[in-house]
Amino acid sequence: MALIFPKSTDKYVKIGGGVVGLLVLGGISAYAYFTLPQVMDTGYSPQQPVAYSHKLHAGNLGMDCYYCHNTVYKAAYSAIPPTETCMNCHVRVKPQSERLLKVRESYATGESIPWVKIHKLPDYVYFNHSAHINAGVSCVTCHGRVDQMAEVKQFAPLNMGWCLDCHRNPAPNLRPVELVTKLSWTPDRDPAEIGREIIAAKHINPPTNCSGCHR
Ligand code: HEC
Ligand code: HEC
Ligand code: HEC
Ligand code: HEC
Ligand code: HEC
Repeated sequence: MALIFPKSTDKYVKIGGGVVGLLVLGGISAYAYFTLPQVMDTGYSPQQPVAYSHKLHAGNLGMDCYYCHNTVYKAAYSAIPPTETCMNCHVRVKPQSERLLKVRESYATGESIPWVKIHKLPDYVYFNHSAHINAGVSCVTCHGRVDQMAEVKQFAPLNMGWCLDCHRNPAPNLRPVELVTKLSWTPDRDPAEIGREIIAAKHINPPTNCSGCHR
């Protein structure tokens, strides 16, 4: 705000700052919406450079999400694995496969595979994976049954109403942390009751104030 208004208008900034802030955010979002219609869409599933399948690796082969997305417990960002992770197996598994050509090239040259990002929040929104994972929100709640997807699709709308719905009532969406990557897990009693126990034990209180997500 300080950059937009000259000093003499300080008091208007104080009175109007909030409103202007909302208008600015609204403007940014409208801009983002019209310029990037492909992001933020449920079902969005771009073509990837390699036909990597979660259904095969996480589903059939039963690999844990954590094997590849190993930053989710510690960091805001859930890292896409480097090619070395793939080559742990693919130096031996299907070493001649045409479908793994780009993986071998990337390994040889050291240049990352240019995976296309699917989920993308606007820059003015703060999101943190580790805060959610450690509270016991499962990947499945926000990303759906990735272990059944040959190609990852955006599952949830990721809009503000969706975030707030859960922040106002997180209980039904919480589980013990060690089950966060067990996408097929189903509770054996009222999920809200399990959630309330976790909330009490960990003092969970998701932000619903604007500055919680717009920092
Ligand atoms: C063998 C490694 C591997 C495993 C195991 C794995 N992933 Fe992935 N994941 C990837 C790669 C590579 C990509 C990027 C390509 C793509 O989108 O398919 C990715 C992309 C994703 C994306 C989309 C990211 C974006 O661009 O927005 C999500 C969500 C995701 N994985 C969730 C999961 C979940 C949930 C599990 C566990 C059920 C899991 N992954 C297991 C390698 C893995
Ligand atoms: C834990 C071992 C393991 C890891 C790690 C792994 N894969 Fe695989 N992958 C396999 C196995 C097993 C198959 C199935 C081979 C078969 O069909 O006989 C496979 C199959 C594939 C195929 C299909 C190959 C074909 O010719 O049909 C692709 C593409 C692939 N993996 C990509 C990747 C990528 C990209 C990564 C890293 C993000 C990765 N894999 C990590 C074990 C692994
Ligand atoms: C509370 C909802 C939520 C949960 C739980 C969640 N994610 Fe995400 N995930 C998101 C959002 C929102 C984004 C987009 C973040 C952005 O653009 O800043 C995202 C993005 C990703 C990405 C792309 C890289 C990134 O960080 O932007 C991967 C990979 C991913 N998630 C994997 C996972 C895995 C694996 C799990 C479970 C261990 C998981 N996510 C749990 C909401 C969630
Ligand atoms: C399914 C439930 C759920 C959804 C969906 C969800 N959250 Fe959360 N969020 C939580 C829980 C639980 C916490 C942990 C609160 C705690 O530990 O006190 C949390 C915490 C946070 C925090 C605080 C993190 C910190 O480091 O202080 C932020 C910011 C946040 N969420 C943003 C978002 C945004 C943005 C979205 C939507 C894109 C979203 N959340 C969607 C349940 C959810
Ligand atoms: C739990 C996280 C969260 C909280 C709390 C939150 N927002 Fe948001 N907000 C988002 C996300 C995610 C988006 C982007 C997606 C979208 O457009 O809905 C967003 C977008 C917006 C936008 C862009 C316009 C729009 O709706 O597209 C405005 C303006 C906004 N927020 C204002 C606010 C105000 C004012 C508050 C406090 C009353 C608030 N937000 C609290 C997550 C949050």
